[in-house]
Amino acid sequence: MPSIRPFLITAALSLSASQMPALASADDPLIEEAKALIKEFAGQLQSELKSAIQANGPVQAIAVCKERAPAIAAELSESSGWEIGRTSLKVRNAALNSPDDWEIQVLQSFEERKAAGEPVEQLSFAEIIQGEDGGVFRLMKAIPTQDLCLACHGDHVSEPVLKALAEYYPQDQARGFKAGDIRGAFSLAKPLAE
Ligand code: HEC
Repeated sequence: MPSIRPFLITAALSLSASQMPALASADDPLIEEAKALIKEFAGQLQSELKSAIQANGPVQAIAVCKERAPAIAAELSESSGWEIGRTSLKVRNAALNSPDDWEIQVLQSFEERKAAGEPVEQLSFAEIIQGEDGGVFRLMKAIPTQDLCLACHGDHVSEPVLKALAEYYPQDQARGFKAGDIRGAFSLAKPLAE
């Protein structure tokens, strides 16, 4: 998982014409809150993943990603009031992690920003979406592919890992990544108070 660097937030708001536009600034406390949650999520997951791989190898560690990633996300969502998850343009768990339209747009813009030279560790985006029930603050932060990830997401995934992945994820799209690629993103949402 990525180390958390200072956020370069490109903020934009979708507001109806009758409302005063107000840009979410980089010191918006919601950005700080989201950043802290991502750090906690990434930190917990990465340490559990690393120790599982070291103890039992990547095949056994698949269970950590399968069970623990959604569990940690659910625990943090429950305790924080945020909706917390991970998504990607190429998902492994389509049922849980498929991107919605907004997430697809943001992920595509991350690819464009990366191609234009921005470091993947710095790619993030926050926006307030106005829905019928009021505003929702949404934030995404790109997840870089590291060497550690390649055993399960790389070009040369071993036979036993492929076999185990095929059992749980017959539609797996999350392979063929190289170190430095954008593997996906953390995606967080919080309804704004009235
Ligand atoms: C031991 C195998 C394994 C390793 C190593 C691994 N992953 Fe995964 N990854 C998985 C599995 C299994 C899932 C599906 C989890 C689920 O069911 O939610 C997954 C899902 C994901 C997702 C959610 C989107 C999707 O495709 O469903 C992201 C993002 C992700 N991994 C990033 C990483 C990153 C970054 C690393 C390296 C730091 C990494 N993974 C290392 C097995 C692995």
